[in-house]
Amino acid sequence: MVIHFIPEIADRVHYVGVRDPDRRMFDALVPLPQGTTYNSYLVKGEAKTALIDTVNPGFEDEFVERISKVSSVEEIDYVIMNHAEPDHASAISYVLSKNSKANLLVTKRGADAAKLYFNIPEDRIRVITDGETIDLGGKTLRFIVAPMLHWPETMFSYLEEDGVLFSCDFYGLHTAYGLYDDQVPNMIQYAQRYFGEIMMPYKSMGKRAIDKIRDLDIKVIAPSHGPIHRNPESIMGVYEKWTVGETNDKVIVVYATMWKNTEKMVKQLVAVLEERGIEVPVYNLEHADIGEIAKDLVDARGIVLGTPTVVGRMHPLAVYATHLVTILRPPVKYGVVLTSYGWGKGALSHASEILGPTGLEVVGVMEVNGPPSQENYSEIRAIAGSLADKVLLEK
Ligand SMILES: Cc1cc2nc3c(=O)[nH]c(=O)nc-3n(C[C@H](O)[C@H](O)[C@H](O)COP(=O)(O)O)c2cc1C
Ligand SMILES: [Fe+2]
Ligand SMILES: [Fe+2]
Repeated sequence: MVIHFIPEIADRVHYVGVRDPDRRMFDALVPLPQGTTYNSYLVKGEAKTALIDTVNPGFEDEFVERISKVSSVEEIDYVIMNHAEPDHASAISYVLSKNSKANLLVTKRGADAAKLYFNIPEDRIRVITDGETIDLGGKTLRFIVAPMLHWPETMFSYLEEDGVLFSCDFYGLHTAYGLYDDQVPNMIQYAQRYFGEIMMPYKSMGKRAIDKIRDLDIKVIAPSHGPIHRNPESIMGVYEKWTVGETNDKVIVVYATMWKNTEKMVKQLVAVLEERGIEVPVYNLEHADIGEIAKDLVDARGIVLGTPTVVGRMHPLAVYATHLVTILRPPVKYGVVLTSYGWGKGALSHASEILGPTGLEVVGVMEVNGPPSQENYSEIRAIAGSLADKVLLEK
């Protein structure tokens, strides 16, 4: 028999989530170097019991086993769906199939999602309104509607007596290791990576949600991935910056190269930026981790894109990276595009097509035939100088 450790993260609040250290990708988009967790919490009041979120497909039996260490599934009165993405909501139907009385508490849009994705019957669903509370007997759960973090139906749940905020994906991070924030080395870097991948496109909604919870006495943040923040000021502090798009003296460089001509141009530019004291993370797209790029997009003020010309267009890896920049909506302000071609131009106009609508201020572009000449190098140094001026002027 497997022995489960079911931590009590606050008075009568039990962690019943599961760990998935072997998972390597999320949403077929985001690499997970350390796997992840699907967090779920059981809150036991004197009269009623609530289950907050569930787990990813494939973990149903382990999940129910964990719940049964502190309660029985039949005893659950409320299942709370903070978010409808299947990593947290897919086991709801399994739980409800083993329990005849529990209601599913959701936002209005959550009700539609619960029916659409999981076939939850109408008579098991109860729609909550923003700010509504339920009394579990000495434990009061308040619901805070927080749309688009990162799906439309999202809400937070807040346990008033203990100051625990169940924030679902918000304030989350992907690692399977460490129960509490202070047990995870480089916790903020993992959180930044996660923010860049998932929350950055919706940062204004994140800001709105933060304003809504500002007056709460939050002692613990219990998100749906990664560690529980028993020192919540740390994660809340960085989210304050990231959601308003606060940037640093930092330029992210992403490039593809086939025969290193573009790479030579990139290296010249990087040298000048570094000389000016700017932080310059550089990613060769051939082997770059997209999650790291997302992380550095969160607070970079400038971006440099390097790409050779391939059949009259940008290199496909550069297309992918550029597209990511458009959908992740980073707060980056200034851009430079460096390209190399053999016999006919095309990459630069392709880059402008994609980057045009982003509102990025393009500080300089280069289209070099083959390897860069000495003259090209001095042009690159001049462009790098203008980029550095812009980046360092902005505070
Ligand atoms: C698969 C492939 C397709 C290419 N297509 C074009 C093209 O359509 N137009 C062009 O001007 N050069 C084309 N080139 C030439 C490269 O753009 C040129 O060699 C460039 O300098 C390579 O830069 P790099 O060393 O950074 O890879 C192509 C090269 C390869 C290998
Ligand atoms: Fe999600
Ligand atoms: Fe999630």
